[in-house]
Amino acid sequence: MLAKLFRDISASCLPGSPLTHAVISAAADDLDAGGVTSRAMAGSERDRPGTVPGLRFAAALHHLVLDGRAPALAKHYPSVGGEPNLDTLWPDAEATVREHEAEVRQLVRANAVQTNEVGRSGPLYGGLLVASERVGGLPVRLLEVGASGGLNLRPHKVAYRLADGIVLGDPDSELQLDPEWTGLPPADLSRPLALHSRAGCDVDPVDVTTTAGQLHLSSFVWADMVARMERLRAAMRLAVADPIQVERAGGADWLERQLAELPDGVLTVVWHSVMWQYASPNERERGRAALAEAAARATGNAPLALLVYEPRRARRHFELLLKLWPAGLSLRLGQGMGHGLPFTWEEQPWG
Ligand SMILES: C[S@@+](CC[C@H](N)C(=O)[O-])C[C@H]1O[C@@H](n2cnc3c(N)ncnc32)[C@H](O)[C@@H]1O
Repeated sequence: MLAKLFRDISASCLPGSPLTHAVISAAADDLDAGGVTSRAMAGSERDRPGTVPGLRFAAALHHLVLDGRAPALAKHYPSVGGEPNLDTLWPDAEATVREHEAEVRQLVRANAVQTNEVGRSGPLYGGLLVASERVGGLPVRLLEVGASGGLNLRPHKVAYRLADGIVLGDPDSELQLDPEWTGLPPADLSRPLALHSRAGCDVDPVDVTTTAGQLHLSSFVWADMVARMERLRAAMRLAVADPIQVERAGGADWLERQLAELPDGVLTVVWHSVMWQYASPNERERGRAALAEAAARATGNAPLALLVYEPRRARRHFELLLKLWPAGLSLRLGQGMGHGLPFTWEEQPWG
């Protein structure tokens, strides 16, 4: 079962990360053979597929590499200046697991997948512009469920450099992002995004202003995706300059509290990206109920929106969906890849 989960997720690492693909698929073979990976994964055998044990295993190894404690493996990892040699990668990875078996097991068991991907700020920024415009330009009260290190809580502080030389957001930002858009958000892009406030929760928040927090988030980036690593490092510098504390809370409890009141004169937006699969069925049900209850109270002067960027069932792409209350709008704004880019804007009715 675990080996199958490893193989399934290793396939989805291609074409983006041949390194992560190779590590996880070799580890799957090692699991079948009862090798050291089986001992490192002890206690995680019955984890739900949605918790993606293979990615947690790869992240544990990357953690040791970034921390300078696996020099033989580090020579394969571009995130620390190495170059992969797929012929010797697994022997070096296996030796690292043998040497640090207890710590790999502890990291795999303790950590949920925390890919706080700031590329998703592109769809978020465009989606917020559309949502705000559809309610007459009200400023946005942004509530992020599953915010991880909160790196997507600064969508207005990113420079979005479009192909034709247009720059949206903050042109002088520490974080210069090519959002790789086809088409444009269906909104007046000459108007800056007005953010009233930002808040986020996570069951396991990461303090990205600390070295430990930065190491933790970096370990989940696939090590041969150098541009992604650079993006993350820039986003973390931005976070240090503009800290926002992500509250430790489950999404449903937090939403019940945050949505108890919908303030006048602002658009309350509940946003989540690539977190829904990690929530339990019960948590999802309660989250939906909290949202439905608040939606029934939304007014023209205190509207509510749901903006999500999540994978669609059995497909390899992600969709940006927007619902607005009381307007009753339900839109699919576009689709893109898991890390938020490239992204194609194409408005259609949803549902
Ligand atoms: C793959 S990460 C995505 C992080 C962020 N949304 C992004 O797109 O960059 C999933 C996050 O969801 C969080 N999470 C999982 N279940 C949760 C829940 N029930 N309530 C709140 N956060 C949750 C995890 O701790 C993790 O930080």
